[in-house]
Amino acid sequence: MFYLICTRLPYAIDYITSSNTPTLMIELTDSRIRGIFPAENEIPEAFQLKQAIHQREYLVNGQMRQWDGTTHEVLSPVYVRTNGELQRKVIGSYPLTTSTEAMEALDAAVKAYDNGRGEWPTMSIGDRIRCMENFISKMLEKKEEVVNLLMWEIGKSLADSNKEFDRTVEYIYDTIDALKDMDRASSRFVIEQGIVGQIRRSPLGVVLCMGPFNYPLNETYTTLIPAILMGNTILFKPPKHGTLLHYPMLEAFRTCFPKGVVNTIYGRGNSVVPSLMQSGKINVLTLIGSSKVADQLKKMHPKVNRLRAVLGLDAKNAGIILKNADLELAVKECILGSLSFNGQRCTAIKIIFVHRSIANRFTKRLAEEVAKLKYGMPWEKGVALTPLPEPNKPAYLTECVEDAIANGAQVVNEGGGQVHESFFYPAVLYPVNERMKIYREEQFGPVIPVVPFDDIEEPIEYVINSDHGQQVSIFGTNTNQLAALIDPLVNQVSRVNINAQCQRGPDTFPFTGRKDSAEGTLSVEDALRSFSIRTVIATKMTEENKEILNEIVEDNKSKFLSTKFIF
Ligand code: G3H
Repeated sequence: MFYLICTRLPYAIDYITSSNTPTLMIELTDSRIRGIFPAENEIPEAFQLKQAIHQREYLVNGQMRQWDGTTHEVLSPVYVRTNGELQRKVIGSYPLTTSTEAMEALDAAVKAYDNGRGEWPTMSIGDRIRCMENFISKMLEKKEEVVNLLMWEIGKSLADSNKEFDRTVEYIYDTIDALKDMDRASSRFVIEQGIVGQIRRSPLGVVLCMGPFNYPLNETYTTLIPAILMGNTILFKPPKHGTLLHYPMLEAFRTCFPKGVVNTIYGRGNSVVPSLMQSGKINVLTLIGSSKVADQLKKMHPKVNRLRAVLGLDAKNAGIILKNADLELAVKECILGSLSFNGQRCTAIKIIFVHRSIANRFTKRLAEEVAKLKYGMPWEKGVALTPLPEPNKPAYLTECVEDAIANGAQVVNEGGGQVHESFFYPAVLYPVNERMKIYREEQFGPVIPVVPFDDIEEPIEYVINSDHGQQVSIFGTNTNQLAALIDPLVNQVSRVNINAQCQRGPDTFPFTGRKDSAEGTLSVEDALRSFSIRTVIATKMTEENKEILNEIVEDNKSKFLSTKFIF
């Protein structure tokens, strides 16, 4: 079905047509949007899915088990035209296993951990690192396949899919380096007040790891990999969209780590995850997803104090544009911040406050820059806007736009809010106010609400009253004003970006949030800490004890109590 909602929306076209139409503006016509989806023979050969991937295996206890039960059909956000009809491309299917298989996976992980006595949790750091390096080399062989699946499963552009893969590999290498550094610093004794001790980090147990659809590879691995490296055993549930792309790596997980270290969970989250949590055998829940789900899952654990949660959750990051801001820079960063991967980033700028004195100019320039963005299929060169993987998202975004209009906003960019199947053309909404749902709800998509303000207290109050506390971006040139904003905002959010969009990277920077936005901290080094606990071997400095320590160390009797140095 194709429909244009622009005929019903009161566009403020004068914003974009009143002066010098940008030369790079991408033609936006009904027929162009109608023709966005290709016929099969128009898909470049390099990106065609030669055949659908019907996954019938899942990894448990070091075995690729066969599944002959119900499956889930995977439909791409990309539609394909056949005889004038559009249909979502079927790219494969995967097992919809039940809670029985989930409990088998749990048993395997519990057994492999064996109360901390298993092969993996007791293996030396050096040996664990060697297993991981082996895994990386096998993972690299799968790059092309994974990148292609990223495009087909979640509609991510080729450039961004490549970036996601490369960034993930780099993250694993950096994590290995950070672990070596951590281990080197721990490979010595500390003597204090007559007590000699060695302080290292130990694993926590069984980790249930669930990643998000928008970075199905990267954000899953930024928790999975450090959790494995620290000696935990894993239950890994791939996200609902972005599932098949994990299949090519299962064999590498199977062969590079001892059996039961990595186990997969397929099936509907609400039918398989509750029994895992209720078992009380999950020691760490790591989830990048919604705070509502995290909240429910945590409460299912019978002994909440035994559960550690490492969570990346909702966010509604605000951009705040001061009246002396460099307008062009602010527009450029707000476009990046609000529309990279169609706004489907937890770190996206999801609302923009702009000083009323420059609000019209800013909004006009924003609309012009949106018009320059190329839209199309993920494999097209230079494409910025692509179809959305969540089937209900276009309808939800349309609802947000209509609600904003009903409450006094206008769509200020030409064609904003047009929908064609899974494709939603970005809508810039102005002026947005607190009566609109887009003011508070996390849209996670290409709708950009712009709120004019007179008093800087207005955006500050917004951030204070928000349920979220991940990041903000402030744009300005007056150092007194910037400093006056930095000080209140650092106690509300976890990262204040100055004249720059919100983002997670560089991955060595701490990534966290306050309120409903996160629990625990992720970064290359922080993640290693999140999935482990400090543990001390200590004794009084008597001659007998010194001898005992020396003998254990010199004869390599313990892997933990050791002064071995990893190079
Ligand atoms: O979806 C949330 C991601 O962690 C965002 O990462 O800021 O690098 O795009 P990014």
